[in-house]
Amino acid sequence: MIQRCIQCDTTYPLDQVIFTCERCQCVLEIAVDAASLSGVKLSGRGVWRYAPFLPVDVKHRVSLDEGGTGFHDCPTLGKAFGIDRLFVKNEGENPTCSFKDRGMTVGVTKAIEMNAVAVACASTGNTAASLAAYAGRAGLKAIVLVPGGKVAMGKIAQSVVHGAQIAQIAQVEGNFDDAMRVVQELSADTGSVYLLNSINPFRLEGQKTLAFEVCEALGDAPDALVLPMGNAGNISAIWKGFREFKEAGFTTKLPRMIGVQAEGAAPIANVVNEGASDCYVANPETVATAIRIGAPVNWQKAVAAIRDSGGLAATVSDDEILAAQRELAQREGLFVEPASAAPIAYLKKHGIDAGTVVCVTTGHGLKDPDAVLRVAPPIVQVKPTVSSLREALKL
Ligand code: F0G
Repeated sequence: MIQRCIQCDTTYPLDQVIFTCERCQCVLEIAVDAASLSGVKLSGRGVWRYAPFLPVDVKHRVSLDEGGTGFHDCPTLGKAFGIDRLFVKNEGENPTCSFKDRGMTVGVTKAIEMNAVAVACASTGNTAASLAAYAGRAGLKAIVLVPGGKVAMGKIAQSVVHGAQIAQIAQVEGNFDDAMRVVQELSADTGSVYLLNSINPFRLEGQKTLAFEVCEALGDAPDALVLPMGNAGNISAIWKGFREFKEAGFTTKLPRMIGVQAEGAAPIANVVNEGASDCYVANPETVATAIRIGAPVNWQKAVAAIRDSGGLAATVSDDEILAAQRELAQREGLFVEPASAAPIAYLKKHGIDAGTVVCVTTGHGLKDPDAVLRVAPPIVQVKPTVSSLREALKL
């Protein structure tokens, strides 16, 4: 395996700490000779089941038993949306309750292999929570920078309890995109601080394992996979996983990749659908704070995943997101955070012409209870009597 620029193919050794190509400044990926893994034996469960596909040594692994998340058959919503077979891959069932743990177990293992003393990220919340937990487990210092005011409290609490050094940028002075720029600069001039945003291709290698799990659960790849996009690492990683599993002979087909953004933060949809030349939105805004991102670092990878797979990029409104969140919770028993409800909102709005559809719900609903309670009716007050309860709830 080797690091390779996705644009000009310049290669870099695995032990070089580098995140953008020295020649053309584009992002890098880990080139894996998946054909050589044909027939390889997979054992155990979760992310490390797929160790032969990963660019770190399993002996050094820093793990909290991530991956192996629930794969839920959703017949009620499937029927309502006109889909033959709808499954939800519920990433909120990871150790810190988001898909980031798949990437972080590999990324922090890489940090240990590179003798880092500290790891850092900019975050809308989930990356920070995951980084903090895995850094704690590994005995590394965690540095986290978040945009002020718009990060769900549950995620901040996780970062704090796991012992991260956390700072926020005042809301008027900057957002996630500014935080991203600052931590990139910090890690570039501080050799010992290892950057663990999704611009780090090692982290994405962990995230690609979701594709492997879906394929093993179904016996082949699905027809379409729908997921939210923010910094666009996850769609890129999962697409890479599907391609590698097919190249290694584990599957016969590839899914269409459908990336969903919130209307107020849709730079990738603008590029794919309107031919915008810049992947940039100046003031991203959405109730789905996890994907409130205007300058996604992995946008070229995401656009390639969408185009090469025959997929599409779509947008949904905040109201549609919150309605889909309630519908998934009330009809299938799955409570996900607003960003994770965006793909459900898309399916509800547009349906899809595909037999087997997998929707990736990226984070647990309890991370952001405020998003639910802000729009919920107040809870009725009753006296401690049955008659009062009957009257209040019309029983
Ligand atoms: N869903 C959730 C719940 C997220 O936290 C994120 C990203 C995404 C979707 C989008 O994934 O960036 O790979 O396209 N959260 C990052 C963070 C940015 O800092 O936690 P992506």
